[in-house]
This record gives sequence, C-alpha cells and structure tokens, in this order.
Amino acid sequence: MDNETLTITDNRTQQTYTIPISRGTIRAMDLRKIKTGPEDFGLMTYDPAFMNTASCQSAVTFLDGEKGILRYRGYPIEQLAEHCTFLEVAYLLLQGELPTSDELANWNCEIGHHMMIHENIKKFMDGFNHDAHPMSILMSTVAALSTFYPEARTVSDAKVRRKQVIRLIAKMPTLAAYAYRHRLGLPYIYPDPELTYAQNYMNMLWRRTEPKYVANPVLARALEVLFILHADHEQNCSTNTMRAVGSSTADPYSTAAAAIAALSGPLHGGANEEVLRMLAEIGTKANIAGFIAQVKDGKRKLMGFGHRVYKNYDPRARIIKQVASEVFEVTGRNPKIDIAMELEKIALSDEYFIKRKLYPNVDFYSGIIYEAMGFKPEQFTVLFGIPRTAGWLAQWQELLQDPEQKIARPRQVYIGEERRDFIPIEERALAAAAIA
Ligand code: ACO
Repeated sequence: MDNETLTITDNRTQQTYTIPISRGTIRAMDLRKIKTGPEDFGLMTYDPAFMNTASCQSAVTFLDGEKGILRYRGYPIEQLAEHCTFLEVAYLLLQGELPTSDELANWNCEIGHHMMIHENIKKFMDGFNHDAHPMSILMSTVAALSTFYPEARTVSDAKVRRKQVIRLIAKMPTLAAYAYRHRLGLPYIYPDPELTYAQNYMNMLWRRTEPKYVANPVLARALEVLFILHADHEQNCSTNTMRAVGSSTADPYSTAAAAIAALSGPLHGGANEEVLRMLAEIGTKANIAGFIAQVKDGKRKLMGFGHRVYKNYDPRARIIKQVASEVFEVTGRNPKIDIAMELEKIALSDEYFIKRKLYPNVDFYSGIIYEAMGFKPEQFTVLFGIPRTAGWLAQWQELLQDPEQKIARPRQVYIGEERRDFIPIEERALAAAAIA
C-alpha cells in the first residue's frame, strides 16, 4: 500500500520526514535521520522494559493478548494440547512443521539416545548443599554442560547447533530429576527412552525400590499437556535473555543457563511457586477479602495474575483448569483450588482488576496441579524450564539464522554527571562538604 508511511514534523526544525510502516512497525533506525543539525546524534526511542518495541521478526509463536490467542507455528494451542505429545510440539517449534510419523519416530529416537548425562555431572551435583534450590542447580548444571561439549561453541555450524538442541531437550528432564533426588539424598535413576517424555521424567523422579515404576497415565498425560502449554511464549523475559545472550554467539548451554536464570524470577516463571505460597498463606476463603484489600492497597501482589501482553484471559490458564479437574479425579481435590477459584471470582468482578485488565496467567493454576501430583513448590519453576527449553532453542536458532540480527546492544539515555575533574582522595571530604 502506498500510504503505509508515517509523516513526522520535527517542531524543533520544521522539517518533515516520511518513513515506511511495515507490519504495524516503523524502524527505529529511520528516526536517526531526524536531527537538529550535523552534530546531533539523531532521534532515538526511549522504551524501558520494551513496552512497545519489537526486537525481532519471528515465525515461531503468535500471541494476541487482547483476544487471548496463542498459536505455535500457526496451530492453536488448544489443538496442540489436545492432540500432540510434547516432543511432537518441540519438533514443530524447531522445524516449523508437524512431523510425519517417520520423522516423529526418528526424533523420539534421537532424543531418547541423548538423555543420559556424563557421570561427572553427578559428582558436580553432589557439591551442592542438600537445600540448594533446584532452579539454581539446574541453571548451574546446564551451564556446566558447555564444559562437556566444547564443540558447541561453533554456533555457526547448523549440524553442531542441531546436536546441541537435541542434547539440551533430551537432558533437561534428567538434570531436573537429578536435582530433585540430590535434595532428598536419593540415588539417581537413569533415563528410560522407552517411556514418553513425561513418563520418563516421572520415572526418574519417583522410582524407589520397585523393579519398574509405572506412571499413572492420566497424570503423565496431564504433565505432557502442561509441558506443551509452557513450550514457548514469544518474546518473554527468559526468551529475550536467550536471544540477547545468544546474539553474542555464546554457546547454547551458557545461553540456556542465562535463560533459566531469567525464568527463575518470581515475576516470571518463579510466580508458580509464589502462587502456592500465597494460597497457603491465605489458608481459608474467609481470608480472601482481607488479602484482596492488601493487594488493592499496593501492599501485596496477587501472584499468578496479570501479564505484560495478555489483557484477556490467558488461554493456557483455561486449558490448565480443565487439566486440574482430570488430575483431581486421580489424586483427590487439592483444597487450594477452591481458594484459587474464589480469588479469581472476586478479582474478576473487582474494579481494581477490571480496570487494569488483570486476569489469571499460566502460573495461577499450574502449581495447584503440580502439588496434587506430588511436586514440592520449589520444583514448579523447573517444571516450566524443561519444556520452555524447546521454545528457547527454536528462538535461538531463528536468531542465528536471521541476517538482520546482530549482537543485542540497546542504547541508553545518559542522565549522569557532566564531565568533571578528578579529586585526590585527601581533598574529597572537603569538596563534598563544600557542595553540601
Ligand atoms: N497484583 C496486583 N496488581 C497488579 C498485578 C498483580 N499481580 N499485576 C499488575 N498489577 C497492577 C500494577 O500494580 C499496575 O497498577 P498501577 O497502574 O496502579 O500502577 C498495573 O497493574 C499494571 O501493572 P504493571 O506492573 O505495569 O504490568 P507489567 O506488564 O509491567 O507486569 C507482570 C506484568 C510482571 C506479570 C505483573 O502483572 C506481575 O507482577 N504479576 C504477578 C507475577 C506473575 O504472576 N508473574 C507471571 C507472569 S506469566 C509468566 O511470566 C510465565
């Protein structure tokens, strides 16, 4: 369209500029030519926390936060959650298409083949305190994988990249399960590639002395669905970290470790753990009104509520509610669900939350399911990190193949001191007193 342009008048100079609009965006670099004179650097945008800045073009995940739509590679999340295995979805994210049955069989086989971890990793894990947070253990051991696979540094080689992608997806459940068993002082259980991705993880977590651990099929499927729902979410905090660190061409293990660090924060993936603590603290329905009053007073946050891009019900939270009822058929009802549902009811009819478009996000109900399945709160974010690895890697691959991408390096607006001369140490107290 010819009129897909933006005309800007700079009132400082009365100059007019016309810049192209493409896919609802203007290029920030087009603003650079808006100058008051040859000495002027040119106009920049100031956007703390990337509230309105697209940092990349991506074909992986589509998200419409106003309408509550989430699609991986064009497929609605609801359909993928109903019909796919997690590894099928991981393949879709990475390859761009759903696998044929032969492709899926090969993919499952390749992942199964790489699930083992080097025995030295076990020694490495033994060094952690028994009460170390599993996310910290996961982050450190993922970073440590770079010492086992030095060839991973050659990120320009597509074959090398693919190998590390497979290794990471395959080894994440193993590392996560070992982190869990280390905490309990239990012997590590080796992966079993005959099992599904979720069943294998459950086996490595919970097998004790029985000759064969058989995961409950409803719980294993529920975990698989939760993995699918968490697999990618476009440019969230941890994915942006993956892209930012990856843009320096660091190896994928160090890069993924950085993404795990970002995910661990309570405002991001760590929220699921905080939701459970919050529900435990509220305790009974009678305490909800008091808690909501504290939230509205700005003294507390309603964890698991609100999202940077969803200004509507998070479609993942809707699916998770359904999964919860299936899980409770097996495990019995987790009483925290009643508090959560009452909290949601009150919040969604309260002016404070309506005005700010605050809805439950993916973390609001996931922890209640995890707890019913037998996971402890400190495991919850690990359960997020395992599947998100597929999304991180899909985005990382896309970044490295995007000819427009370079090392990520934002600009700043400097607000510090102007140039000033050095003051010898013995004169500083006097100089400070003179200023005061
Ligand atoms: N409880 C109470 N008030 C909230 C909440 C909440 N959970 N979330 C946002 N608000 C309020 C803010 O105080 C602010 O109010 P104001 O306009 O009066 O100042 C308004 O809603 C807008 O909130 P922002 O913080 O500006 O929104 P932002 O997009 O920066 O933050 C975030 C999004 C971090 C997710 C926020 O909603 C939050 O902290 N939620 C709780 C933590 C959480 O559940 N995180 C998981 C997110 S999903 C994920 O990462 C997997």
